[in-house]
Amino acid sequence: MTIDRSAARTDLDVADRWWRDGVVYQVYPRSFADSNGDGVGDLAGLIEHLDHLAGGPDSLGVDAIWLSPIYPSPMLDGGYDVSDYTTVDSVFGTLADFDRLVEACHRRGSRVILDLVMNHTSSQHPWFVQSRQSASGPFADFYLWRDPAGWSADGPPEPPNNWVSWFGGSAWEWEPVRGQFYLHTFLPEQPDVNWRSPALRQAMWSMVRGWLEHGVDGFRLDVFNAFLKAAELPSNPEIAPAAALPWYRQEHRYDKDQPDLHELLAEFRAIVDGRPGTATVGELFTSAIEAAVGYWAPRHLIFDWVLLDATWTAASFRTAIATREAAWGDRWPTVALSNHDHPRHVSRYLDSLGEHDEGTADAVAKAAATIELTLRGTPFLYYGEEIGALDITVPRELARDRAALRMPEWWNRDGCRAPMAWSAAVNAGFTSGEPWLPLPPGARTRNVEREAASEGSVLAHYRRLLGLRRGSPALRSGDLALVDVGDPDVLAYLRRAGDETALVVVRFDHRTGEIELPPAAAPWRVALSSHDRASPSVGSRLTLRPFEAVVLAHTMHG
Ligand code: NOJ
Repeated sequence: MTIDRSAARTDLDVADRWWRDGVVYQVYPRSFADSNGDGVGDLAGLIEHLDHLAGGPDSLGVDAIWLSPIYPSPMLDGGYDVSDYTTVDSVFGTLADFDRLVEACHRRGSRVILDLVMNHTSSQHPWFVQSRQSASGPFADFYLWRDPAGWSADGPPEPPNNWVSWFGGSAWEWEPVRGQFYLHTFLPEQPDVNWRSPALRQAMWSMVRGWLEHGVDGFRLDVFNAFLKAAELPSNPEIAPAAALPWYRQEHRYDKDQPDLHELLAEFRAIVDGRPGTATVGELFTSAIEAAVGYWAPRHLIFDWVLLDATWTAASFRTAIATREAAWGDRWPTVALSNHDHPRHVSRYLDSLGEHDEGTADAVAKAAATIELTLRGTPFLYYGEEIGALDITVPRELARDRAALRMPEWWNRDGCRAPMAWSAAVNAGFTSGEPWLPLPPGARTRNVEREAASEGSVLAHYRRLLGLRRGSPALRSGDLALVDVGDPDVLAYLRRAGDETALVVVRFDHRTGEIELPPAAAPWRVALSSHDRASPSVGSRLTLRPFEAVVLAHTMHG
């Protein structure tokens, strides 16, 4: 299958293309490395482990690090409930530690992307503490306050409309002191801010400028497409009464994706663009890929969730890739298989295969990494995936993810937030204290130190892949075309740039079998395989072993 690439070219002629050619690595700061023995990861711990990421002889060589929120927070939603945007939570360190981190990353040729949570604050943020007191005063309109729609027969006030919270229940909470409801798309302790208030806007922009002055290289925008709601806040149409999550019972016509959001984003982007070399990535909140594409601009990437939703079959990945290529056209997508909100991809794939042995886990981790790092788009790796980290199981009574506990359907994100396994030392070298979440399964062997010493490890495969990608214009920025190699369980696609062509083939099943290579001007050679291969030479056919992923090339590496 060849994708039609006739759409007009978007102007991407910008001097600094790291956001497009590079690889981003997401750190969940509580779980990366603890320097002070309190069981929780911190900035000093991250700085101590930067060699793993960039600038050292054996580093992964990532171009940027995205830090999930590091701001002061009551931690009801893993830090996505911010009570002060301008500094660092003491559990992670100080602003001085943050400045050291930025400086150390820059010295290593890497960058820092901060998570900006601007749809809502924590209810403990001083803006809300004052706003809830009275309908007058400087912070009165910083949040979305409304009078009740009426009073029910037995007394309680009725919410202004039918909107629901993502975490379940009405999106409106009654504030008796002010005598009004406020809107919360997430927890009641996460009130939505009012972006139609000029004062709120200016307060947010001055916070953004402040972080740019600290030298950050960009931002990840949390649920940015929910920033603006329809001005009159009409009720949403009810469309699917049987949907398991209340959120999906409505069409979200009025509580996100409003037309004037483009204007708001333009204001934000002008501030960010004022500093050369910066870039952002927007987290699309429960909208379709077409919406993601519509918000895209050069230097301003948007996540879509089509690949993350693919299951472990070649057919599912083929469909996802075709959907993405058709939707994104000549715009530049992102590629992510995991993040802090979903079970890790290797755990998901192993569950669907019904197999959990180490060998299959390693093979699937390598095959998935090969896809992730050779598709068209900027890859976003999630900490730990480079060692094939798996989910932990946390029983409900021990859950730390307090937001997920409120979901009508149990959805524990602790599973994908386990401490990073650095070595076979006590607590996998993550902390000298009691880790805030249990260590991942198999951490005594599945850790950075052990895998660094083994040529056949998942980590070694990631390092080789990242190296190959760095040296290959076709893999970094080439066109993509799906191809048929005569086996439904094998995913195959070509990447092309100039006279360089790469062919990626990945077997999704347990069989060993031959595939037919597409005709090429010069003989294909193996540039990299997830399995040992005696020779790089191949003919017109190639035998792929169970879960084997191979990158072939011509002109690349001679
Ligand atoms: C998106 C974040 O990724 C998620 O972790 C959080 O719960 C919601 N935004 C609400 O802040």
